[in-house]
Amino acid sequence: MTTSNPRLDLALEVARAAGGLLRDGLGRATVEHKSPLELVTEFDRASERLIVERVLASFPQDGLLAEEGSHRPGGEWRWYIDPLDGTTNFAHGLPHFAVSIGAEAGGSLAFGVVYDPMRDEMFHAARGQGAYLNDRRLHVSAAVDLSRSLLVTGFPYDLRDNQDNNLDHFSRLARRSLAVRRFGSAALDLAYVAAGRFDGYWELRLAPWDLAAGIVLVLEAGGTVTRADGAPHPLQPPPSIAASNGPLHGPLLEALRERPAHDKD
Ligand code: IPD
Ligand code: CA
Ligand code: CA
Repeated sequence: MTTSNPRLDLALEVARAAGGLLRDGLGRATVEHKSPLELVTEFDRASERLIVERVLASFPQDGLLAEEGSHRPGGEWRWYIDPLDGTTNFAHGLPHFAVSIGAEAGGSLAFGVVYDPMRDEMFHAARGQGAYLNDRRLHVSAAVDLSRSLLVTGFPYDLRDNQDNNLDHFSRLARRSLAVRRFGSAALDLAYVAAGRFDGYWELRLAPWDLAAGIVLVLEAGGTVTRADGAPHPLQPPPSIAASNGPLHGPLLEALRERPAHDKD
């Protein structure tokens, strides 16, 4: 597939190449700990090297921010790269992870690519041009009732030490929805909201590389995206997110605004 944007074409190409590298590495990674709960493998780093080298070879003036340490300020264009979203899954041989590449032009998100190499599912979207899974146009779900909706979330790596760990929201929303899943890849969680597979997603304390691409997917599939507290601009630090099909956004935010149990007198 080619598009009218050479950067998006490159993102699609390198996401597929990096995804191939990850697919080949599944089940044979050497696992290190960045912190007690946060893992990293040589495949996270190899994927990042591949993507960053190819982006900078074609667009040397662009800025970029990638999870495993590549950072280049400046440029009208800025790329957000998660070379392996779902490292905990990958490190355990669990085939649910993705490459996530988003880009901003002049401070606004312009496009996003999320590639799941195990299912060969390429999600992409450009602002104003719709969201796609492979060649198929995507639309968010039509759900209107929170109690019948399928939600997804995730938990921060410091959940043992930080009380703001989302377990309270999880418990509340598990009782108010049909079910809540924890699949372990924020980028795919967002792509699945765009595809109508999930009706809504929220998560606290993420990083811009987890979210940039998926936000464009959800917006272009007709959904709504805010911070978890309802404010705009999920990428401003510390990034948090609520993403939904639209009709469920109010009820989702209402549940997230309730005070956590540990705050109550
Ligand atoms: C993680 C995944 C996970 C989310 C974590 C992220 P990583 O990214 O997206 O679903 O719950 O907060 O950090 O570390 O696998 O790239
Ligand atoms: Ca990530
Ligand atoms: Ca990652």
